[in-house]
Amino acid sequence: AQAASALREERKKPVYRDDEYADIDWDNLGFGLTPADYMYVMKCSKDCEFTEGELSPYGNIQLSPSAGVLNYGQAIYEGTKAYRKENGELLLFRPEHNAIRMKLGAERMLMPSPSVDQFVHAVKQIAFANKRWVPPSGKGSLYIRPLLMGSGPILGLAPAPEYTFIVYASPVGNYFKEGIAALNLHVEEEYVRAAPGGAGGVKSITNYAPVLKALSRAKSKGFSDVLYLDSVKKKYLEEASSCNVFVVKGRTISTPATNGTILEGITRKSVMEIASDQGYQVEEKAVHVDEVMDADEVFCTGTAVGVAPVGTITYQDKRAEYKTGDESVCQRLRSVLVGIQTGLIKDTKGWVTCV
Ligand code: COI
Repeated sequence: AQAASALREERKKPVYRDDEYADIDWDNLGFGLTPADYMYVMKCSKDCEFTEGELSPYGNIQLSPSAGVLNYGQAIYEGTKAYRKENGELLLFRPEHNAIRMKLGAERMLMPSPSVDQFVHAVKQIAFANKRWVPPSGKGSLYIRPLLMGSGPILGLAPAPEYTFIVYASPVGNYFKEGIAALNLHVEEEYVRAAPGGAGGVKSITNYAPVLKALSRAKSKGFSDVLYLDSVKKKYLEEASSCNVFVVKGRTISTPATNGTILEGITRKSVMEIASDQGYQVEEKAVHVDEVMDADEVFCTGTAVGVAPVGTITYQDKRAEYKTGDESVCQRLRSVLVGIQTGLIKDTKGWVTCV
């Protein structure tokens, strides 16, 4: 019986493919889904702790039509990336910060969450098992998507009786179709993204579908993304649909303070630290839309987006143009961040983890 059980366990283990790279066009990666071979799944019931997860081939999952996530949106997600160094090694960028953010989000959404160690272990397993999907150095990264959801069935509005933590991955290049060219943003005045007391500060899935209408309206007019204003005064910058925003004036770099309506981006936090190291004055504050229109530079940050320059912002009937290019602050900060993430610059901060 012992031998049979050992055999069963052995069969459950994924077979790693040892061909070095998946057969895809590495030169034309956008942000589309190209599922990597394996996903990681871990389940637990309400009031219980997550114990052990496992890798399985990427594929559909089964959910009851009455799953909490489908009916009441009880779910949060994360985004992190694995990068390939020039020598082929894989690096992760501050995954423990994603783990902590997922924990805080789970508390807000009344869900049990994986421990920091469990989260980081799962992300490492996914990067390692899907190594052939991590783009060659300089061509992109493996985007890793940890997802925590109320998967158990529930009819009345209440926390789901079972939770599923899934991690899947896809190789990606630039998030925006503009590639590395500057973005054109539109300040949204009808819809808001989040309100004080809401869940705008956590990566709840419920923060994302409601932005689609404003986003697609702006895209149909040729803009790359929308900038949201605060829900109370409709005068202060919040964030874009998919990323945080920074404003540069002289040697001062400002970004909206996180007060529960703005996502506390890990790229945001890292860029703030790099900018301070370089002697810029970095301020987290309420950024008035007039200040945005009067800035020297504007740029966006996010895991998916990276550090992306903004070329123009349109607000009401005004259109501001900003400095971009090699000499810009954005480009200087971006090259340090990307250098650390891809192992080209020595990591003196303990930000990268080898897989
Ligand atoms: C990320 O940057 O990882 C995000 O979650 C943003 C998403 C809209 C792709």
